Amino acid sequence: MEFALEAEGLTKVYQGKVVLYNFSLNIRKGEILGLLGPNGAGKSTFIRIISGLEEPDSGILKILGERAGKIGRRKIGVAPQENALYPLLTCTENLLYFGSLYGIGGKLARERAAQLLDNLGLEKKKNVPCQFLSGGMKRRLNLACALMHEPEIIILDEPTTGLDPATRVQMWKTVQEIVRKTGATLLLTTHYIEEAEALCSRIAFINSGQVVAEGTPNELKRRVGKELAKLTTIPGAPDKLIAIIKKINGIDAVTATEHGVVIEGNEISSKLPEISKALEKSGETIVELSLSRPSLEDVFLTMTGSKLREVVAVEPAKRN
Ligand SMILES: Nc1ncnc2c1ncn2[C@@H]1O[C@H](COP(=O)(O)OP(=O)(O)OP(=O)(O)O)[C@@H](O)[C@H]1O
Ligand SMILES: [Mg+2]
Repeated sequence: MEFALEAEGLTKVYQGKVVLYNFSLNIRKGEILGLLGPNGAGKSTFIRIISGLEEPDSGILKILGERAGKIGRRKIGVAPQENALYPLLTCTENLLYFGSLYGIGGKLARERAAQLLDNLGLEKKKNVPCQFLSGGMKRRLNLACALMHEPEIIILDEPTTGLDPATRVQMWKTVQEIVRKTGATLLLTTHYIEEAEALCSRIAFINSGQVVAEGTPNELKRRVGKELAKLTTIPGAPDKLIAIIKKINGIDAVTATEHGVVIEGNEISSKLPEISKALEKSGETIVELSLSRPSLEDVFLTMTGSKLREVVAVEPAKRN
């Protein structure tokens, strides 16, 4: 069985408001999938359905090949968007408590708790009641609680919201390390494009309760546009340049600028050595070079016509 999670045509309606509509997404075993989309797109709703906190109104969800509901929730570890922690319990006690919910106790639980506190930089706070932690520390403890039982599927709803940049990068490392070590599948939501690029093997964009695009970061970028390379050369005779560059394979378009050309194509960066060689051969020297490639933000914009952080209203009347 290849997939950790298979969602097929999920629909969820809250008080007449369609929140998920024909939502389909497959998540492969062992991959890190990032779910991105604006506020209110339905990300947390999908996660609540996976966690068993909500039932879809229609559609099928399979977890590790089994219909959701049949599979033991022990296989899943969820760190929800709102921290779920006991304020009067210390960090260690919180971890031991969450471990016990999944049948992890004794020495094993104490070892795991100590290891997680260490990995997430909370070692010094182990005996501090969690009500006295900073916001970022609570966020990290919330993550640790989801990992106590070493789940096969880890689900993190905005794990790094509210973390400082250094801590965020530390969290990426910890999460990657855990996935590598345990072979777990990871589904995470984020509003940070750079986080998705750094961490995720695949990305799914969700808008108004539907997956609007999915693929590896590079696949997605290729879908919306090509790379552009801007060259300025000396002596810089554009007509001559165009004739030379057009002969190179994989170049889609070359247009003249004042002292050079703009070249368009897929993966232009990999063609640069070839281009510069051809130009040198014909007596042209590159004096300036800039490359631009579409960003994931461009992808989302193109797919949805809306900005990532914008709230998009879902109106059932417009559905058919
Ligand atoms: N229990 C509920 N009752 C009614 N409406 C709800 C409920 N839970 C969520 N919603 C609505 O469902 C929509 C999707 O919410 P959801 O929390 O899934 O969005 P999200 O993609 O996680 O957004 P964010 O990026 O802000 O976390 C929102 O319009 C929200 O108001
Ligand atoms: Mg959410």
